Amino acid sequence: MTPVKIAPSILAADFARLGEEVVQAQQAGADWIHVDVMDGRFVPNISIGVPVVKSLRPVTDLPLDVHLMIVEPERYLEAFAEAGADRLTVHVEISPHLHRTVQRIHQLGLKAGVAINPATPLGFLEEILPDLDLVLLMSVNPGFGGQEFIPSALDRLRRLRRMIEEIGGETEVEVDGGIDPSTAGPVVAAGATVLVAGSAIFRSPHGVAQALHGLRTAAQAPPVGQGTHSGDSKSR
Ligand code: DX5
Ligand code: ZN
Repeated sequence: MTPVKIAPSILAADFARLGEEVVQAQQAGADWIHVDVMDGRFVPNISIGVPVVKSLRPVTDLPLDVHLMIVEPERYLEAFAEAGADRLTVHVEISPHLHRTVQRIHQLGLKAGVAINPATPLGFLEEILPDLDLVLLMSVNPGFGGQEFIPSALDRLRRLRRMIEEIGGETEVEVDGGIDPSTAGPVVAAGATVLVAGSAIFRSPHGVAQALHGLRTAAQAPPVGQGTHSGDSKSR
């Protein structure tokens, strides 16, 4: 089984020391760096954009996993690609021409993801699923860090996992929101292959390295009452 990947979300980092925080996360074994882009329209909050991706590019060689919580994401794909993003994820709720957007991300040489909010039916992903490198399942309502994990995400994860298996896909399943050592294990057992964690890593009183190690240990621990993961043997 491929170990779960951990993608620290810089939304919870100290922006005055962003480069240092990202280097620390990389040294502690982070797999991707998750960049939350918010426009104050699709979500109520405004965060960061293209210039920050550009500034981070020389700081780390980890994949920059850019989560676009913005309206009309298709207008900014080139800019994020040029700035050095490796993966671009757009929301299903905001992209009427999702197929074209995913195609364009691939043409730019990047991995394409689609994010889905807690109340959006998973069926909305059905047609586009074979074209995706990643599905980002929101386990909070997007817009803010530090929110509580929504428990129904676990059942959604299991159903999403089945949908991917039915098409024999290799799609990564990334979970975003409220991930900490208490939710990491159940989420991985339900089929997640990538965990986004902001507060649990960058706001931990124990520091980035210890927080990341703790999260990884929790993510890999078998579910209570079982010797092995209850997820399938193919989980990545
Ligand atoms: C929420 C963002 C998340 C956020 C997660 O809209 O997409 O990536 O940073 O933060 P935590 O891990 O604190 O829930
Ligand atoms: Zn995110």
